[in-house]
Amino acid sequence: MQDTHDPLLVWRDDGVPVSDRFDDPYFSVVNGLEETRHVFLAGNDLPARFCDGFHVAELGFGTGLNMLASLLAWRENGQVGTLYFTSFEAFPMQASEMDQALAHFPEAHAIAAPFLEQWAAGARRIEMPGLVANIHIGDARETLPTLDLRANAWFLDGFSPAKNPELWSENILHEVANHTAKDGSFATYTAAGFVRRTLDEAGFDVTRAPGFGRKRHMSIGTLRTAT
Ligand SMILES: C[S@@+](CC[C@H](N)C(=O)[O-])C[C@H]1O[C@@H](n2cnc3c(N)ncnc32)[C@H](O)[C@@H]1O
Repeated sequence: MQDTHDPLLVWRDDGVPVSDRFDDPYFSVVNGLEETRHVFLAGNDLPARFCDGFHVAELGFGTGLNMLASLLAWRENGQVGTLYFTSFEAFPMQASEMDQALAHFPEAHAIAAPFLEQWAAGARRIEMPGLVANIHIGDARETLPTLDLRANAWFLDGFSPAKNPELWSENILHEVANHTAKDGSFATYTAAGFVRRTLDEAGFDVTRAPGFGRKRHMSIGTLRTAT
């Protein structure tokens, strides 16, 4: 019987992992790490907004690349204290699969060992110098509403809205807004009209920004202040 939590990975000839479940790659073929930096870090005005205790939250943990890219940015920026990273994943990868995927990005892979060791041992609270991460396993539509979390920055990184509508529904995007701190922000690679409209209705001021590589646009936004 098929494991209902198996990510069903297929490795393309160029080494990119693709989800057979969602028929979508985990990261850009051009350069996944650069895309993360452009979309999720710069899109949330990071590292400029980093401060001790800064909290990033993410829909879709996948390979852990975005977490490691955030930690690289934190360390390179000379931050002191702790970066908190909360992510949600319904179909967790094995540590060996993450290792294989991350090997494409030498900078991220170079700091990945302590994370992969903890993950392989079954930990879902990961501690590394400068970082405390909690990865909530299960459908984010069920796990996010139960948490007392206020993120300063959200990375909305589900598979494409057409293939993974669960992570772009009205309910979950409203939950994202409800779990955002004052002056908090989001960034996502998609500029799909219904995603932008829903995030606006949920309480964000939404802006279109230049996308990465061949993508013309992406979306960024900040939580509107209650009046
Ligand atoms: C594009 S990948 C994320 C890539 C990831 N951020 C990284 O750094 O590698 C999208 C992820 O969302 C996960 N996902 C899809 N539907 C989900 C759901 N309903 N709840 C939680 N995670 C989900 C997929 O399993 C996949 O790992």
